[in-house]
Amino acid sequence: MIDTEFAPVSTVIGHRGAAGHAPENTLASLEKAAGLGVRWVEFDTKLTADGHVVLFHDDTLERTTDGRGAVAETTLADLRALDAGSWFDGGSQGAYAGERVPTLKEAMETLARLDLGAVVEIKPSPGRERETGLAVARVLAAGWPETLPAPLISSFEKTALGGAREAAPNIRRALNVFKIPRGWRKKTKALGCRSVHCLERNLTARRVGVLKDEGMAVRAFTVNDRTRAETLLRWGVDGVFSDYPERMPQDNR
Ligand code: G3P
Ligand code: MG
Repeated sequence: MIDTEFAPVSTVIGHRGAAGHAPENTLASLEKAAGLGVRWVEFDTKLTADGHVVLFHDDTLERTTDGRGAVAETTLADLRALDAGSWFDGGSQGAYAGERVPTLKEAMETLARLDLGAVVEIKPSPGRERETGLAVARVLAAGWPETLPAPLISSFEKTALGGAREAAPNIRRALNVFKIPRGWRKKTKALGCRSVHCLERNLTARRVGVLKDEGMAVRAFTVNDRTRAETLLRWGVDGVFSDYPERMPQDNR
């Protein structure tokens, strides 16, 4: 994989695909994002019981599927049998009924077809941080489509980012935080991260300025209000993750 630290990431990034319009972290959500004119998406990744990387946000199945229990205790075959779309809109008669939980490999094929870049968030189940970081980075390194801009790995979990770095040091990484931590210089340096992704309401013009002055890229999640996006971008934020990317300033796509 090519060295990618400075390959551009678009300013507007579809959150979990386009989570405001389609069931999050599904292929339908990636399709929807592309249909809205988005050039990059973000999605969450974790491991099944049998070690496959799938797109999934929560540790448990209940909120976004018709299954029960922990993702980490469910095999890929069992996960694939679940409906990951009906919860979103219209139940079993809805447009997304029968949507499946995709593997990262399937998502990469869809990204290639749709010409979408991706921020791949590692969302490890508790206790599986390093293992998940290693697995996600290995899948990306082995099969990332050459036609796409290089991916950006992100995580709140430092151990997961460490695992990703170990498996694929050339894939760039971002540290996710709810609030810019006091020791951000040391933390990002230790993990080789040149980007920080922060909860939007905890960013201020001053905090963004300090990070930018020291060469960090700063992105904000989750921004669904256009005026707020304009403010953040004026402060120098490099990108916003949005469930409703079509609401974001058009000239910044
Ligand atoms: O990657 C940015 C954002 O997605 C982090 O929060 O909970 O939506 O994964 P969450
Ligand atoms: Mg996420």
